[in-house]
Amino acid sequence: MKIGLLTSGGDCAGLNAGMRGFGKALYALIPDAEIYGVLDGYTGLVNGEYRKMNPEEFSGILTLGGTILGTSRMPYKKLAADDHNGKTDAMKESYRKMNLDVLVVLGGNGSHKTAAYLSAEGLNVIGLPKTIDNDIWDTDMTFGFHSALDVATDCIDRIQTTAASHKRTFIVEIMGNKAGWLTLYAGLAGGANIILLPEIPYSPKKVIKAVSSRLENDRFCVIAAAEGIMDTDEALLGKKERVALRIGRGEGTASNRIAKLIGDALAVETRVVVPGHVQRGGIPSAYDRILCTQIGAYGAKLVSERRFGVGAAVVNGRMTYNSLVDIAGKTKLVPSDHELVKTARGIGISFGD
Ligand code: F6P
Repeated sequence: MKIGLLTSGGDCAGLNAGMRGFGKALYALIPDAEIYGVLDGYTGLVNGEYRKMNPEEFSGILTLGGTILGTSRMPYKKLAADDHNGKTDAMKESYRKMNLDVLVVLGGNGSHKTAAYLSAEGLNVIGLPKTIDNDIWDTDMTFGFHSALDVATDCIDRIQTTAASHKRTFIVEIMGNKAGWLTLYAGLAGGANIILLPEIPYSPKKVIKAVSSRLENDRFCVIAAAEGIMDTDEALLGKKERVALRIGRGEGTASNRIAKLIGDALAVETRVVVPGHVQRGGIPSAYDRILCTQIGAYGAKLVSERRFGVGAAVVNGRMTYNSLVDIAGKTKLVPSDHELVKTARGIGISFGD
């Protein structure tokens, strides 16, 4: 059997561990399997950039960050619009040239959308759920999330001590795109006083009030804010209008805006910290090493069963799969009544709403 392997979208810790789990399990199931690594994500598939991989390449990479195959972003929207530019045909041609039985994609939400598209175009595709955002539909957990969570939590931990020493208010801006999972988990793990999520629009006044009441007893305050947060007015707008409004206000990112609002209203020194891509780099956590091995090995099982057009998933702790068509284009967001949101509220954490 000939299998194409590709890592796509934003990288994260655990991509190599996932490929290792896949490769080792695949060679055990199908000893004469041939794996072709496609370089730099779907871009490599378009450009016909790939190489045959040796079984030895799947050893010694469990703890290696990044991806040995490279990655890139190729937004699905652009791909579908560019269809007549021949990208789809070029990808099909590479698949044909490699003489593949299946293409296995380690990717996030967008990459799964493209995987579903290629599957509809007649290719055999399997998706393995990777993203620090944990926003892939119908899977409890994506790999990469927990490693990013450890970094974001460590960042909040460190901010807690310096905030306390200097009696400052800090906003730690956490990645996650439109989903607040990483911020919710890191905020809880790091003991943030306020957690702001894209799914729960905040009221600037209520955030200021929450900071003010926190400062009545303690002279420092830590806010975990997702990069995609919006206030109650912004939440009523479409993306373009929201961007225009923010540019018009000239207040920069949402975190910077909140920092200024708090500083002006309460006369307290308020700083913003952005761990950014640090959350995606470095070695995978123990949790992720295990999850990547489990998901990778399950991906090999799906290949050996010739179960195509599906994405591997973890549901209630068990490995299963979803049809790519069913999950493509859907985003798993934090429900506003999620158990962890309730727990956080129960211990006095404000969501600024
Ligand atoms: O999807 C992973 C992610 O890290 C998001 O949390 C973030 O919004 C985005 O990627 C950043 O992408 P880039 O590295 O392309 O700027």
